[in-house]
Amino acid sequence: MGIKPLSEYTRGQNWRRRRRTGRPLGHRALGNRLKTVFIENGLMRAGEPDQVVGFFRDLGVTVEVVDAKKEFFSALKGVTDPEEKREAITQAFYKTVFGRIVRDSGAKHLLQGTILTDVDETVAGIKRQHNVFEQLGIDPKETFGYQIIEPLIQLRKDGVRATGKALGLPATLFERIPFPGPALAARVIGEATPDRIETVRKATVVVERLLETTDAFQYMGILHEDRVTGMRDGKRDFGQQIEVRCWESVDARIATPTQLPFEMLEKLAADIISEVPGIVSVTYNIATKPPSTIEAV
Ligand code: XMP
Repeated sequence: MGIKPLSEYTRGQNWRRRRRTGRPLGHRALGNRLKTVFIENGLMRAGEPDQVVGFFRDLGVTVEVVDAKKEFFSALKGVTDPEEKREAITQAFYKTVFGRIVRDSGAKHLLQGTILTDVDETVAGIKRQHNVFEQLGIDPKETFGYQIIEPLIQLRKDGVRATGKALGLPATLFERIPFPGPALAARVIGEATPDRIETVRKATVVVERLLETTDAFQYMGILHEDRVTGMRDGKRDFGQQIEVRCWESVDARIATPTQLPFEMLEKLAADIISEVPGIVSVTYNIATKPPSTIEAV
């Protein structure tokens, strides 16, 4: 038996390394028959499309980024009511963007990660989660032209995390803080214009940087619609307000605010005011869910 070329040893090691980190559920089930897309709707956090593509690349999965910023911002134009905003996002995702992808690719099914909390809150009429249809009597096949497969529908966030762990996925993936389907539009009270989304995106960078070591369930910045009188460089500045929320929860059904040290609150205010143009007021939410909800919209 001769000595194998070095590349063969390396190939073997790569294979073993990939096996140890596990593969996402859809790819285990469908392999190359699954086309994976990331919708860049303009509402994502700073650097998120590249980060998500990178996570999947490390797992051996190619993700196609679909630029749909125009479609989403035109659907959100002039919309201020929270439920109408959620509906506009649902239509932009499922009718306009996925409708086109499915038509162009010839796919018949959309595989997505709806979970039980999404269904509960939608059916209870608390908040229309962007990804719930059948439970509202909407047939996706009839309405959008494709069927929807939801393998995680019986699980809540804690069950999804246990599944990720059991699949051998990296903890950086299944321990990521939850982020809602309507993305930063759920964190802008009033109209979600590109400028206002950019403001909340900058605030989110600060909030995530400062609170990632807290081990809290979820944390976020929210841009308020009301302005308040502030002062900058000795002049009046009728500026904008950011509300910070940081939640303790297991499954998002009930939640309590994290008891952050006052020095941390001061640092949040100082960094948000210096890094986010136009902000003159920073507040911290101390209400529980219920009656509050985790996202503001
Ligand atoms: P709320 O704000 O309803 O949020 O207390 C509960 C959890 O669900 C997330 N969330 C969503 N996730 N589509 C989603 O996929 C949505 O429309 C949506 N709205 C809220 C939220 O981030 C929290 O973890």
